[in-house]
Amino acid sequence: MNVAAHSVPASARLLEVHSLGKSFFKPDGDALVVLEEVNLALARGEIVGLLGRSGSGKSTLLRLIAGLDAPSRGMVRYMGAPVDGPAPGISMVFQGFALFPWLTVLGNVQLGLEAMGLPEAELRKRSLAAIDLIGLDGYESAYPRELSGGMRQRVGFARALVVHPNILLMDEPFSALDVLTAETLRNDFLDLWGRGELPIGAVLLVTHNIEEAVQMCDRLLIFSTHPGRVVSEIPVDLPHPREPFDPHVRALVDRVYVEMTARPRQSREGARAERPVMVGIGTPLEHVSTNLLAGLLEAVSEPPYGGRADLPAIAHALHMEGDDLFPVAETLQLLRFAEVEGGDIRLTEAGLTFARSDTDERKALFAQHLMAHVPLAAHVRRVLDERSSHRAPKSRFLDELEDHMAEEAAEQSLRAVISWGRYAEIFAYDDQRQVFSLENPA
Ligand SMILES: Nc1ncnc2c1ncn2[C@@H]1O[C@H](COP(=O)(O)OP(=O)(O)OP(=O)(O)O)[C@@H](O)[C@H]1O
Ligand SMILES: [Mg+2]
Repeated sequence: MNVAAHSVPASARLLEVHSLGKSFFKPDGDALVVLEEVNLALARGEIVGLLGRSGSGKSTLLRLIAGLDAPSRGMVRYMGAPVDGPAPGISMVFQGFALFPWLTVLGNVQLGLEAMGLPEAELRKRSLAAIDLIGLDGYESAYPRELSGGMRQRVGFARALVVHPNILLMDEPFSALDVLTAETLRNDFLDLWGRGELPIGAVLLVTHNIEEAVQMCDRLLIFSTHPGRVVSEIPVDLPHPREPFDPHVRALVDRVYVEMTARPRQSREGARAERPVMVGIGTPLEHVSTNLLAGLLEAVSEPPYGGRADLPAIAHALHMEGDDLFPVAETLQLLRFAEVEGGDIRLTEAGLTFARSDTDERKALFAQHLMAHVPLAAHVRRVLDERSSHRAPKSRFLDELEDHMAEEAAEQSLRAVISWGRYAEIFAYDDQRQVFSLENPA
């Protein structure tokens, strides 16, 4: 189903992404499917948010849309024409800007226009206007090293705006800034947008910050992982400015949490799009520290929650963004210490017991659940038990895992199992020699 593409009437579409797919090839020749069947459309005048987990392929998608990389399947259409190279009229704002240190603010902004072959006077006029618009008036001749992080990011915005892009792609543009600076820049951006002062047709904003997405966007697209595709669309029909504690804003934030923690649903496209369910050691694990796992169990077990909590509420209480919280909640679910459903987390009996126990009891309970519910941990332990040396190099498991997943995911899964196994004392791991052993455990 073309969820996101069908909600924009064909005549209004500035940009269309059709059945887009992207695979990268691993050194062994196997394909890593990053994007599959991505469909979306952007209409003039809208800010659309794309929310997805780390590694789901959001940046890859933006690069394909901007024509900076070629898709493996499907196509991108911009104003009706296929995109097959860097598209004029589409510009990008990144998380951190590589400003040229030897160029002034004006010089850095003018770079955005260089390819357009404008007369010198026009170049200067437009650049100064962009600098002014984004609140850097008076800093034209400053060098990047003289600017704060927030101001440098403003230069990045000015460089993207100066071309008067029809489509502005923003890849987590506020995530490298401190909370207050991000807030100010977001508000300034929305203010200019609301007054129609930005020379932009439409915006596609990639973020993992749910609150930010709800504050800024007219429509949200939720992106799945492995592979990345648009799995649902949420319209945001709320007037601006949107206050963080407005009940309508809260309700929407809740809804996004529910969508983002939903278990993969039966695909409506039938078996073709169905992903094989990975079981056993082939399940990629997120590297979540046992401190975080214990911290969340404790927080949810205590008043006012008493074993069940609303995910946005607990994220707020723990000063975490949803994106940081999901892997923790999901790992607790994997270990059967909690259930995540409908945007809530509910501790199981074992989870409650863990929260009430002392350190040794916790370790014993964790070990039991780790061996029972994380096949990779049990597998490592079995291999060590079976070898007379009770030792095995990390590479032995890495090679095995790479038959099931990308190198990065294999590394991450092993790192997870190493830290959990050490905590549970089911095996030891020597960081320097990169060797597992049964040396310390009882
Ligand atoms: N050029 C490349 N070669 C091989 N793999 C790549 C390449 N670019 C991206 N990938 C892989 O594609 C996947 C998606 O990466 P991408 O950067 O698009 O994700 P993302 O959603 O933007 O993540 P984040 O939220 O962390 O920014 C990752 O597993 C990454 O390792
Ligand atoms: Mg990214």
